[in-house]
Amino acid sequence: VIERPGSRLHRFRDQEEGMRMGLLGTGPVSQRLAGRLAGLGHEVMIGTRDVEALMARTEGAYDGSPAFADWRTDHPTVRVGTFADAAAFAEMVWNATAGAASLEALAMAGTRNLDGKILVDVANPLDVSHRMPPTLSVCNTDSLAEQIQRAFPGAKVVKTLNTVNARLMVDPAQVGGGDHHVFVSGNDQEAKSEVTRLLVEGFGWTNVLDLGDITSARAAEMYLPLWLRLFAAVGNPMVNVKVVW
Ligand SMILES: NC(=O)c1ccc[n+]([C@@H]2O[C@H](COP(=O)([O-])OP(=O)(O)OC[C@H]3O[C@@H](n4cnc5c(N)ncnc54)[C@H](OP(=O)(O)O)[C@@H]3O)[C@@H](O)[C@H]2O)c1
Repeated sequence: VIERPGSRLHRFRDQEEGMRMGLLGTGPVSQRLAGRLAGLGHEVMIGTRDVEALMARTEGAYDGSPAFADWRTDHPTVRVGTFADAAAFAEMVWNATAGAASLEALAMAGTRNLDGKILVDVANPLDVSHRMPPTLSVCNTDSLAEQIQRAFPGAKVVKTLNTVNARLMVDPAQVGGGDHHVFVSGNDQEAKSEVTRLLVEGFGWTNVLDLGDITSARAAEMYLPLWLRLFAAVGNPMVNVKVVW
């Protein structure tokens, strides 16, 4: 992990000064990330298409996560706004929207609100329109992370955490004592270092493997077909891999 004295995260660690985190997305991933980031002392805002519609929803998510309004009751410090509100508020932005809608959601967040900021992309470009398991809507010679980086060249896109379940993202010790891997991909080395520091010091990851520039996100996204088969084979989404060499 490369130290960058003076960075916001560095100051946060040294002086317990929180960063402003903007999470685009309201599903299980965003809820887990927001809960953990707020618990670490960061200021958090979650972004959605329509705040009123979100708060009126009574159904929980597919994985047993509560309806958003119920989750929010337990997390009163987390702010809620539009995608643009959350991105404007944030020093670090997280894309936790459905992969098929991510470019649309980020466009709603607004180019100016993303410029110069680290944009942590945890989304997967899953096409769920066919029968299970889902396929990838982009792969081989391109990836969602690259599409995002091309569409928002002023943002520093870091792909990470898309290869693990939402609960494991922020608490890797829940399986195998935490001795397994997560990956980072991106063009900006400082941005990757800052995100890596958060993964290690904030979320508890011990093994963070830098795969390279943003084109390496193809590999992290194309791991999803294997992840889906691992989930089916072991019958549990709390599954991950350890890289040994
Ligand atoms: N679930 C996991 O364990 C897991 C693990 C790794 C990676 N991921 C990836 O993380 C991302 C988030 O997953 P999730 O399960 O938490 O939620 P999700 O159901 O995949 O996505 C929910 C979010 O997508 C937004 N969205 C949906 N359609 C949209 C549209 N047409 N335009 C703009 N925004 C739209 C929703 O906005 P509204 O708030 O306005 O409804 C909502 O905030 C996904 O890309 C997923 O593949 C998930």
